[in-house]
Amino acid sequence: MERIRIVGGAPLNGTIPISGAKNATLPLMIASLLTDETLVLENVPHLADVALLKRILGNHGVDCMIQGKRAGQNGATAETIELSAGEIVDTFAPYELVSKMRASFWVIGPLLARMGEARVSLPGGCAIGTRPVDLFIMALRELGAEIDIDGGYVVARAPKGLRGGRIVFPKVTVGATHVAMMAAVLARGETVIENAAREPEVVDLADCLIKMGARISGAGTATIRVTGVDRLTGARHAVMPDRIETGTYAFAVAMAGGDVLLEGASSATLERPLELLAEVGAEVTTTNEGIRVRRNGSGLHAVDVSTEPFPGFPTDLQAQLMALVCHAKGSSHIRETIFENRFMHVQELARLGADIHLDGQMATVNGVARLKGAEVMATDLRASMSLVIAGLAAEGETIVNRVYHLDRGFERIEQKLGDCGATVERLAG
Ligand code: EPU
Repeated sequence: MERIRIVGGAPLNGTIPISGAKNATLPLMIASLLTDETLVLENVPHLADVALLKRILGNHGVDCMIQGKRAGQNGATAETIELSAGEIVDTFAPYELVSKMRASFWVIGPLLARMGEARVSLPGGCAIGTRPVDLFIMALRELGAEIDIDGGYVVARAPKGLRGGRIVFPKVTVGATHVAMMAAVLARGETVIENAAREPEVVDLADCLIKMGARISGAGTATIRVTGVDRLTGARHAVMPDRIETGTYAFAVAMAGGDVLLEGASSATLERPLELLAEVGAEVTTTNEGIRVRRNGSGLHAVDVSTEPFPGFPTDLQAQLMALVCHAKGSSHIRETIFENRFMHVQELARLGADIHLDGQMATVNGVARLKGAEVMATDLRASMSLVIAGLAAEGETIVNRVYHLDRGFERIEQKLGDCGATVERLAG
């Protein structure tokens, strides 16, 4: 298994190009199942999760062609891909594939909408919490689907097609909002989705579906309205910049010190994290080219924060923020409200000398003056990045094991950080 070696202590200076968002790319790729015409996606990041989803969609009959690198991407490996689901050859999504990536469960929405049936494995638990699918099932039933759970599979049928309905989510869910929207676009009549997720990735999916001929309003607010149409067409859409990657590198610069332009980043999707970054003690400016983050010499301040659905502070940046405040003066309090078990990084950060106490969903981080490099283990995607951030400021060498977690969601980190002066290298297993 590959590992990442980091030698801490160097500031970061230069430019980091921000990739297309993983969490927008995945639902956008899945939306290709809704039409027999070609969906062209630009700015697709080069990630293990994207490669896996290509395979999963291939099983359903989607042809995926890579058009080549996007011009002017400053050496990034963004791809333009063409997805064509001329014919859906199978509505079955097996356990072996769905269990590897939770988002692949989302194929249930478009398969049901287009084919009137789907048999999709339950995604199962994962390292950050139980992550049930009850709200997906509720939403699809509201649209007229008959749903059974059989042998670990969700079996959904709508022999006469889906019809519009009123879906009221009792809690905000990104995945079920994506699926409800993708199912409703081909349903008969109007669907109203209440307490919908307002995440920018939902807006990106809605924008693409609208280009494909869907009638959707209100994406980005808590009430989304969809009027069903008979068919969708092909379209061309560029994936939004990755706000979590942006926030991650912004925190890395605050941790290591220095001056970095996060090229192509959008501050509109990162208001709360950037506000916090300023509270912690970094200077943040938005320019035409992206977001510039600077910290020179001054110390870091402690903060109190809870993770919240958008526009609140995202759970996907919680681990990275925790790494940052390990080095702050005073005690920070970080409450995780979205997932019940998203603190696996705490014990790994402790190996580097962090002083963190957990009490249920609340972590108290007592800042320490120095962190010291150690061997640590990546436990999930975002947690892995918190270890890299801590390693950038730790004295000496940090080795992060199980790097495959990182490769699921971060493109070429050793190159992006290395180009800014950090010593980060990949070691063969
Ligand atoms: N939930 C239910 N029932 C459901 C669905 C969700 O109880 O049927 C609960 C979840 O257990 C959780 C909460 O609702 O407590 C929110 O989960 P959500 O459905 O919003 O999460 P998701 O769609 O599975 C996406 C991202 C996650 C991100 C969350 C929250 C993708 C591919 N994944 O997950 O990203 O943390 O939204 O913003 O978009 C990551 O990229 O590392 C990652 C985990």
